[in-house]
Amino acid sequence: MRILVLGGTVFLGRAVARHARDAGHEVTCAARGVAGTPVPGVRFVAVDRDSPQGLSMLEGETFDAVVDVTRRPSHARHAVAALAGRVGHWSYVSTGSVYADHGTPGGTVATTPLLPPPPPEIDDPTGDAQQWYGPCKVACEEAFRAVVDEQRLFVCRAGLIVGPEDPTERFGYWVRRLADGGEVLAPGTPDAPVQCVDVADLAGWLVRAGKTGLAGTYDGIGAPMPRAAFLAAVAAGVGRPQPRLTWVDQDFLIERDVRPWAGERALPLWLPLPEYAGFMARDVSASLAAGLTTRPLAETARATLEWLGAAHRPGVAGGLSREDETNVLREWHGRRA
Ligand SMILES: NC(=O)c1ccc[n+]([C@@H]2O[C@H](COP(=O)([O-])OP(=O)(O)OC[C@H]3O[C@@H](n4cnc5c(N)ncnc54)[C@H](OP(=O)(O)O)[C@@H]3O)[C@@H](O)[C@H]2O)c1
Repeated sequence: MRILVLGGTVFLGRAVARHARDAGHEVTCAARGVAGTPVPGVRFVAVDRDSPQGLSMLEGETFDAVVDVTRRPSHARHAVAALAGRVGHWSYVSTGSVYADHGTPGGTVATTPLLPPPPPEIDDPTGDAQQWYGPCKVACEEAFRAVVDEQRLFVCRAGLIVGPEDPTERFGYWVRRLADGGEVLAPGTPDAPVQCVDVADLAGWLVRAGKTGLAGTYDGIGAPMPRAAFLAAVAAGVGRPQPRLTWVDQDFLIERDVRPWAGERALPLWLPLPEYAGFMARDVSASLAAGLTTRPLAETARATLEWLGAAHRPGVAGGLSREDETNVLREWHGRRA
């Protein structure tokens, strides 16, 4: 199959190109080449999608499948206009951030309402405009649905994607922290749900979707697991099968300005409950039935640790520092004593 990856220079896009190449497909990646480079063995076409004519370098070519990761509605509109009639199957990588309700566990594509699209002048949810990320992805989905026949369109709403080459430190924080050993601050409660998807599993599903013609809208995320099982699996994957976890109440963490999810002073993959009780507790039985396969999380952790080591990446950018973690734990034990 001839497959076009619109993107393909970072994390998921590279994984899609790698998987497609290894499956014997003919792969083209089209991007500027600013964010990174494509994997070896694929064709790279330099394009700038900010221009409506940005995909003219692909004029006259046909593709059996396209995978697009864009977050800009204008990019989505330009892509369907430029490639209409020359593509067999489209996959659009959307996000769980399109949902308007993150508080209800067990939500599905059919039951969870969506955010409205952004006002027309908002087209780039980066920098100071990141609050528009979900609405812009809604508008991208709408741009594909407006033009592409629904029998040929797969909208994949990815949840937290983890594994090697992740440019964020969200999963990497736990990989490093558990690999380091010692007493580990575990946020919230052991039974709180955590949900993620290995980048290679998601990439594999996207490539197979092009091959089999999967149509419809699905969440691109594995089944939820209790936080205790999540931490145990990561610990096992990094060679520390008996982690020394200290569970700390969320209110205590919030009082000490320990922040949720990502960024400075954050404990990644932790979100306050009950406000976010549905964010990592989606019912993904439809996705699993539609061909998403998920590897054991310990394998993902092992591969991520190897990559972090091989990449000689600098210390955790974001996440709770070891000093701050030690201080919070000391206060927690002091209060309990
Ligand atoms: N990471 C997560 O946990 C997560 C969770 C939910 C959903 N998602 C979704 O998953 C996808 C992740 O994709 P990804 O990992 O490949 O990263 P990405 O950062 O979304 O990749 C964007 C791609 O578009 C290209 N691009 C950007 N501006 C361009 C332009 N003007 N012209 C042409 N190409 C341009 C970039 O390459 P150049 O800069 O080289 O041009 C890059 O290859 C996204 O759709 C994201 O919304 C991610």
